[in-house]
Amino acid sequence: MPEPSNTIDHDKCIRCSRCVAICPVGHLDLIADKIQPVDDPVKSCILCGHCMSVCPTQAIETGDFNYEEFIDLPDTLPTLADFELLLKARRSTRRFTEKPVEKKDIEKILEITSTAPMGVPPSSVEIIVFNGKEKIQALYPSFHKGFKMWIGGLSSPVFKPLMGLMMGKYNMHQMETEIIPLAKLILEGAIRGVDNLTYGAPAMLLFHSSKYAVSYRENCLIATTFAMIAVEGLGLGSCVVGMIPPVIERDKKLREQLGIPKDNEVIECLILGHARSTFNRTIPRKFKSVNWVN
Ligand SMILES: Cc1cc2nc3c(=O)[nH]c(=O)nc-3n(C[C@H](O)[C@H](O)[C@H](O)COP(=O)(O)O)c2cc1C
Ligand code: SF4
Ligand code: SF4
Repeated sequence: MPEPSNTIDHDKCIRCSRCVAICPVGHLDLIADKIQPVDDPVKSCILCGHCMSVCPTQAIETGDFNYEEFIDLPDTLPTLADFELLLKARRSTRRFTEKPVEKKDIEKILEITSTAPMGVPPSSVEIIVFNGKEKIQALYPSFHKGFKMWIGGLSSPVFKPLMGLMMGKYNMHQMETEIIPLAKLILEGAIRGVDNLTYGAPAMLLFHSSKYAVSYRENCLIATTFAMIAVEGLGLGSCVVGMIPPVIERDKKLREQLGIPKDNEVIECLILGHARSTFNRTIPRKFKSVNWVN
Protein backbone atom coordinates (compact mmCIF):
# COMPACT_ATOMS: atom_id res chain seq x y z
CA MET A 1 0.00 0.00 0.00
CA PRO A 2 1.42 3.44 -0.87
CA GLU A 3 1.66 5.96 1.95
CA PRO A 4 -1.64 7.89 2.17
CA SER A 5 -1.22 11.44 0.80
CA ASN A 6 -3.71 13.01 3.17
CA THR A 7 -4.37 13.11 6.88
CA ILE A 8 -7.71 14.36 8.14
CA ASP A 9 -8.25 15.50 11.70
CA HIS A 10 -11.84 14.38 12.17
CA ASP A 11 -12.20 16.42 15.38
CA LYS A 12 -11.37 19.61 13.49
CA CYS A 13 -13.35 18.68 10.36
CA ILE A 14 -16.78 20.35 10.18
CA ARG A 15 -17.83 18.23 7.16
CA CYS A 16 -18.37 21.24 4.93
CA SER A 17 -17.19 19.19 1.91
CA ARG A 18 -15.32 22.15 0.43
CA CYS A 19 -12.28 19.89 -0.02
CA VAL A 20 -14.44 17.31 -1.84
CA ALA A 21 -15.79 19.95 -4.20
CA ILE A 22 -12.39 21.48 -5.01
CA CYS A 23 -10.32 18.31 -5.45
CA PRO A 24 -9.47 18.11 -9.18
CA VAL A 25 -9.23 14.32 -9.21
CA GLY A 26 -12.09 13.32 -6.90
CA HIS A 27 -9.66 11.89 -4.35
CA LEU A 28 -11.79 12.93 -1.35
CA ASP A 29 -15.32 11.99 -0.40
CA LEU A 30 -17.69 12.12 2.54
CA ILE A 31 -18.01 8.45 3.39
CA ALA A 32 -19.85 7.26 6.54
CA ASP A 33 -20.00 10.91 7.69
CA LYS A 34 -16.21 11.26 7.46
CA ILE A 35 -14.00 12.89 4.87
CA GLN A 36 -11.85 10.11 3.49
CA PRO A 37 -9.47 9.50 0.59
CA VAL A 38 -11.11 7.39 -2.08
CA ASP A 39 -9.48 4.00 -2.64
CA ASP A 40 -9.20 4.28 -6.42
CA PRO A 41 -5.82 4.54 -8.20
CA VAL A 42 -7.44 6.60 -11.00
CA LYS A 43 -8.32 9.21 -8.37
CA SER A 44 -4.85 9.41 -6.79
CA CYS A 45 -3.94 12.66 -5.05
CA ILE A 46 -1.82 14.92 -7.27
CA LEU A 47 -0.58 16.91 -4.26
CA CYS A 48 -1.99 20.17 -5.60
CA GLY A 49 -2.74 21.56 -2.11
CA HIS A 50 -6.19 22.86 -3.09
CA CYS A 51 -7.95 21.03 -0.24
CA MET A 52 -5.66 22.72 2.31
CA SER A 53 -6.23 26.08 0.67
CA VAL A 54 -10.02 25.86 1.05
CA CYS A 55 -10.37 24.04 4.39
CA PRO A 56 -11.87 26.51 6.90
CA THR A 57 -10.57 24.65 9.95
CA GLN A 58 -7.17 23.40 8.74
CA ALA A 59 -8.42 19.87 9.26
CA ILE A 60 -6.80 18.30 6.20
CA GLU A 61 -3.11 17.99 5.41
CA THR A 62 -1.56 16.66 2.26
CA GLY A 63 1.94 15.64 1.19
CA ASP A 64 4.73 17.75 2.64
CA PHE A 65 2.60 20.90 2.82
CA ASN A 66 2.50 22.76 6.12
CA TYR A 67 -0.20 25.31 7.01
CA GLU A 68 2.48 27.66 8.35
CA GLU A 69 3.63 28.22 4.77
CA PHE A 70 0.14 29.08 3.50
CA ILE A 71 -0.76 32.78 3.57
CA ASP A 72 -4.33 33.76 4.48
CA LEU A 73 -5.91 35.59 1.54
CA PRO A 74 -7.76 38.86 2.14
CA ASP A 75 -11.41 39.13 1.07
CA THR A 76 -10.52 41.56 -1.71
CA LEU A 77 -7.67 40.81 -4.08
CA PRO A 78 -5.99 43.26 -6.47
CA THR A 79 -8.05 43.68 -9.62
CA LEU A 80 -7.01 43.48 -13.24
CA ALA A 81 -7.07 47.28 -13.30
CA ASP A 82 -4.25 47.27 -10.72
CA PHE A 83 -2.31 44.72 -12.74
CA GLU A 84 -3.06 45.80 -16.29
CA LEU A 85 -0.69 48.72 -16.44
CA LEU A 86 2.16 46.64 -15.05
CA LEU A 87 1.66 44.11 -17.84
CA LYS A 88 1.23 46.72 -20.54
CA ALA A 89 4.27 48.64 -19.34
CA ARG A 90 6.50 45.56 -19.46
CA ARG A 91 9.08 45.74 -22.20
CA SER A 92 12.10 43.66 -23.07
CA THR A 93 15.05 45.41 -21.48
CA ARG A 94 18.25 45.45 -23.51
CA ARG A 95 20.10 48.30 -21.78
CA PHE A 96 21.16 47.81 -18.18
CA THR A 97 22.92 50.03 -15.66
CA GLU A 98 25.98 48.72 -13.84
CA LYS A 99 23.94 48.40 -10.62
CA PRO A 100 23.87 44.79 -9.41
CA VAL A 101 20.61 43.06 -8.57
CA GLU A 102 20.26 42.57 -4.83
CA LYS A 103 20.09 38.95 -3.67
CA LYS A 104 16.86 39.66 -1.78
CA ASP A 105 15.24 40.83 -5.04
CA ILE A 106 16.26 37.63 -6.82
CA GLU A 107 14.90 35.63 -3.90
CA LYS A 108 11.59 37.50 -4.15
CA ILE A 109 11.45 36.85 -7.92
CA LEU A 110 12.05 33.13 -7.30
CA GLU A 111 9.38 33.07 -4.61
CA ILE A 112 6.81 34.62 -6.97
CA THR A 113 7.96 32.41 -9.84
CA SER A 114 7.48 29.27 -7.75
CA THR A 115 3.73 30.00 -7.68
CA ALA A 116 3.46 29.40 -11.46
CA PRO A 117 1.16 26.58 -12.54
CA MET A 118 2.68 23.30 -13.72
CA GLY A 119 1.34 20.30 -15.65
CA VAL A 120 1.22 18.09 -12.55
CA PRO A 121 2.56 19.11 -9.15
CA PRO A 122 5.20 19.28 -7.86
CA SER A 123 7.00 21.61 -10.23
CA SER A 124 9.63 20.03 -12.46
CA VAL A 125 11.30 23.40 -13.03
CA GLU A 126 14.93 23.83 -11.99
CA ILE A 127 16.58 27.24 -12.06
CA ILE A 128 20.22 28.22 -12.24
CA VAL A 129 20.83 31.73 -10.91
CA PHE A 130 23.72 33.80 -12.20
CA ASN A 131 24.12 36.86 -10.02
CA GLY A 132 26.98 38.95 -11.40
CA LYS A 133 27.76 40.03 -14.94
CA GLU A 134 31.15 38.29 -14.81
CA LYS A 135 29.48 34.93 -14.10
CA ILE A 136 27.30 35.31 -17.20
CA GLN A 137 30.08 36.54 -19.44
CA ALA A 138 32.40 33.71 -18.37
CA LEU A 139 30.15 31.51 -20.54
CA TYR A 140 30.61 33.64 -23.65
CA PRO A 141 33.45 31.60 -25.21
CA SER A 142 31.19 28.51 -25.12
CA PHE A 143 28.21 30.46 -26.48
CA HIS A 144 30.27 31.95 -29.31
CA LYS A 145 31.69 28.53 -30.18
CA GLY A 146 28.13 27.17 -30.43
CA PHE A 147 26.95 30.02 -32.66
CA LYS A 148 29.96 29.53 -34.95
CA MET A 149 29.11 25.84 -35.26
CA TRP A 150 25.55 26.67 -36.34
CA ILE A 151 26.76 29.19 -38.89
CA GLY A 152 29.43 26.78 -40.16
CA GLY A 153 26.95 23.91 -40.38
CA LEU A 154 24.44 25.93 -42.35
CA SER A 155 27.00 27.20 -44.85
CA SER A 156 28.39 23.68 -45.43
CA PRO A 157 26.92 21.78 -48.42
CA VAL A 158 27.61 18.54 -46.49
CA PHE A 159 26.20 19.47 -43.07
CA LYS A 160 23.28 21.65 -44.15
CA PRO A 161 21.15 18.75 -45.50
CA LEU A 162 22.01 16.72 -42.40
CA MET A 163 20.94 19.60 -40.16
CA GLY A 164 17.74 19.84 -42.18
CA LEU A 165 17.02 16.16 -41.60
CA MET A 166 17.77 16.38 -37.89
CA MET A 167 15.91 19.61 -37.24
CA GLY A 168 12.91 19.30 -39.55
CA LYS A 169 11.65 22.00 -41.92
CA TYR A 170 10.12 24.35 -39.36
CA ASN A 171 13.17 24.51 -37.10
CA MET A 172 15.38 24.80 -40.15
CA HIS A 173 13.32 27.72 -41.42
CA GLN A 174 13.65 29.45 -38.02
CA MET A 175 17.37 28.75 -38.04
CA GLU A 176 17.91 30.30 -41.46
CA THR A 177 15.59 33.28 -41.12
CA GLU A 178 15.99 34.34 -37.48
CA ILE A 179 18.63 32.48 -35.51
CA ILE A 180 21.61 32.63 -37.86
CA PRO A 181 21.24 36.39 -38.56
CA LEU A 182 21.01 36.98 -34.79
CA ALA A 183 24.03 34.74 -34.15
CA LYS A 184 25.99 36.76 -36.72
CA LEU A 185 24.89 40.02 -35.09
CA ILE A 186 26.05 38.72 -31.70
CA LEU A 187 29.44 37.57 -33.02
CA GLU A 188 30.02 40.78 -35.00
CA GLY A 189 29.05 42.83 -31.94
CA ALA A 190 31.50 40.89 -29.78
CA ILE A 191 34.36 41.89 -32.12
CA ARG A 192 33.38 45.55 -31.68
CA GLY A 193 32.89 45.18 -27.90
CA VAL A 194 29.09 45.46 -28.18
CA ASP A 195 27.13 42.88 -26.18
CA ASN A 196 24.13 41.82 -28.27
CA LEU A 197 23.56 38.63 -26.29
CA THR A 198 22.91 39.48 -22.65
CA TYR A 199 23.38 43.24 -23.09
CA GLY A 200 25.56 43.58 -19.99
CA ALA A 201 22.78 42.27 -17.74
CA PRO A 202 23.96 41.74 -14.16
CA ALA A 203 21.78 38.68 -13.51
CA MET A 204 20.41 35.72 -15.43
CA LEU A 205 18.03 32.85 -14.69
CA LEU A 206 18.25 29.62 -16.62
CA PHE A 207 15.17 27.39 -16.58
CA HIS A 208 15.59 23.66 -17.15
CA SER A 209 13.57 20.56 -16.41
CA SER A 210 13.61 16.81 -16.53
CA LYS A 211 12.19 15.62 -19.83
CA TYR A 212 10.35 12.88 -17.95
CA ALA A 213 8.01 15.46 -16.37
CA VAL A 214 4.60 16.13 -17.89
CA SER A 215 4.49 19.49 -19.73
CA TYR A 216 8.11 20.14 -18.84
CA ARG A 217 8.62 22.76 -21.55
CA GLU A 218 5.43 24.61 -20.68
CA ASN A 219 6.33 24.48 -16.97
CA CYS A 220 9.58 26.29 -17.71
CA LEU A 221 7.99 28.81 -20.08
CA ILE A 222 5.20 29.72 -17.67
CA ALA A 223 7.71 30.03 -14.83
CA THR A 224 9.76 32.36 -17.04
CA THR A 225 6.67 34.47 -17.67
CA PHE A 226 5.92 34.69 -13.94
CA ALA A 227 9.54 35.71 -13.36
CA MET A 228 9.23 38.50 -15.93
CA ILE A 229 6.15 39.85 -14.19
CA ALA A 230 7.86 39.67 -10.79
CA VAL A 231 10.88 41.48 -12.22
CA GLU A 232 8.61 44.21 -13.58
CA GLY A 233 6.80 44.53 -10.26
CA LEU A 234 10.11 45.13 -8.51
CA GLY A 235 10.88 48.00 -10.87
CA LEU A 236 13.59 46.03 -12.67
CA GLY A 237 13.78 45.02 -16.35
CA SER A 238 14.19 41.66 -18.05
CA CYS A 239 14.49 40.03 -21.44
CA VAL A 240 14.07 36.44 -22.55
CA VAL A 241 17.17 35.29 -24.44
CA GLY A 242 16.07 32.41 -26.60
CA MET A 243 19.51 32.15 -28.19
CA ILE A 244 21.09 30.75 -25.03
CA PRO A 245 19.18 27.54 -24.14
CA PRO A 246 19.83 25.67 -27.43
CA VAL A 247 23.52 26.45 -27.30
CA ILE A 248 23.85 25.17 -23.72
CA GLU A 249 21.65 22.20 -24.58
CA ARG A 250 24.14 20.95 -27.17
CA ASP A 251 27.34 21.68 -25.17
CA LYS A 252 28.08 18.61 -23.02
CA LYS A 253 30.99 20.24 -21.18
CA LEU A 254 29.00 23.36 -20.36
CA ARG A 255 26.03 21.30 -19.18
CA GLU A 256 28.33 19.41 -16.82
CA GLN A 257 29.93 22.63 -15.62
CA LEU A 258 26.47 24.04 -14.83
CA GLY A 259 25.33 20.80 -13.18
CA ILE A 260 22.46 20.20 -15.60
CA PRO A 261 21.28 16.59 -15.23
CA LYS A 262 21.54 14.34 -18.29
CA ASP A 263 17.76 13.94 -18.63
CA ASN A 264 17.05 17.67 -18.38
CA GLU A 265 16.42 20.10 -21.20
CA VAL A 266 17.39 23.76 -20.95
CA ILE A 267 14.24 25.58 -21.98
CA GLU A 268 14.53 29.26 -21.27
CA CYS A 269 16.83 32.02 -20.17
CA LEU A 270 15.88 35.35 -18.62
CA ILE A 271 18.31 38.20 -18.13
CA LEU A 272 17.50 40.92 -15.65
CA GLY A 273 18.79 44.06 -14.06
CA HIS A 274 18.14 47.75 -13.60
CA ALA A 275 16.91 49.19 -16.89
CA ARG A 276 18.96 52.03 -18.36
CA SER A 277 16.18 53.25 -20.68
CA THR A 278 12.61 53.89 -19.68
CA PHE A 279 9.61 53.85 -22.00
CA ASN A 280 7.11 56.67 -22.30
CA ARG A 281 4.17 54.72 -23.65
CA THR A 282 2.78 51.24 -24.16
CA ILE A 283 3.13 49.43 -27.49
CA PRO A 284 0.00 48.03 -29.12
CA ARG A 285 0.32 44.30 -29.74
CA LYS A 286 -2.09 42.01 -31.57
CA PHE A 287 -2.35 38.23 -31.90
CA LYS A 288 -1.99 36.95 -35.44
CA SER A 289 -5.59 35.80 -35.27
CA VAL A 290 -8.47 35.46 -32.85
CA ASN A 291 -11.48 33.60 -34.20
CA TRP A 292 -14.69 33.39 -32.22
CA VAL A 293 -16.71 30.27 -32.75
CA ASN A 294 -20.36 31.19 -33.25
C1 LIG B 1 10.77 32.96 -26.49
C2 LIG B 1 11.43 34.31 -26.64
C3 LIG B 1 12.75 34.38 -27.04
C4 LIG B 1 13.38 35.62 -27.13
N1 LIG B 1 14.72 35.68 -27.48
C5 LIG B 1 15.35 36.88 -27.54
C6 LIG B 1 16.75 36.95 -27.82
O1 LIG B 1 17.44 35.93 -27.99
N2 LIG B 1 17.34 38.18 -27.84
C7 LIG B 1 16.62 39.31 -27.61
O2 LIG B 1 17.20 40.40 -27.64
N3 LIG B 1 15.29 39.28 -27.35
C8 LIG B 1 14.64 38.09 -27.29
N4 LIG B 1 13.31 38.03 -26.97
C9 LIG B 1 12.56 39.27 -26.70
C10 LIG B 1 11.61 39.59 -27.88
O3 LIG B 1 12.35 40.03 -29.00
C11 LIG B 1 10.59 40.65 -27.43
O4 LIG B 1 9.74 40.06 -26.46
C12 LIG B 1 9.76 41.17 -28.58
O5 LIG B 1 10.56 41.88 -29.47
C13 LIG B 1 8.62 42.07 -28.10
O6 LIG B 1 9.10 43.13 -27.32
P1 LIG B 1 8.54 43.38 -25.84
O7 LIG B 1 8.96 42.19 -24.99
O8 LIG B 1 9.19 44.64 -25.38
O9 LIG B 1 7.06 43.48 -25.94
C14 LIG B 1 12.66 36.81 -26.84
C15 LIG B 1 11.32 36.72 -26.43
C16 LIG B 1 10.72 35.49 -26.31
C17 LIG B 1 9.28 35.41 -25.83
S1 SF4 C 1 -3.96 17.82 -2.62
FE1 SF4 C 1 -5.24 18.19 -4.41
S2 SF4 C 1 -5.48 16.19 -5.33
FE2 SF4 C 1 -4.75 15.82 -3.27
S3 SF4 C 1 -6.59 15.53 -2.08
FE3 SF4 C 1 -6.06 17.67 -1.92
S4 SF4 C 1 -7.25 18.68 -3.56
FE4 SF4 C 1 -7.24 16.47 -3.99
S1 SF4 D 1 -12.69 21.32 3.87
FE1 SF4 D 1 -11.81 20.81 5.85
S2 SF4 D 1 -13.52 21.01 7.28
FE2 SF4 D 1 -14.42 20.95 5.23
S3 SF4 D 1 -14.87 18.77 4.93
FE3 SF4 D 1 -12.83 19.10 4.08
S4 SF4 D 1 -11.44 18.58 5.78
FE4 SF4 D 1 -13.46 18.86 6.67
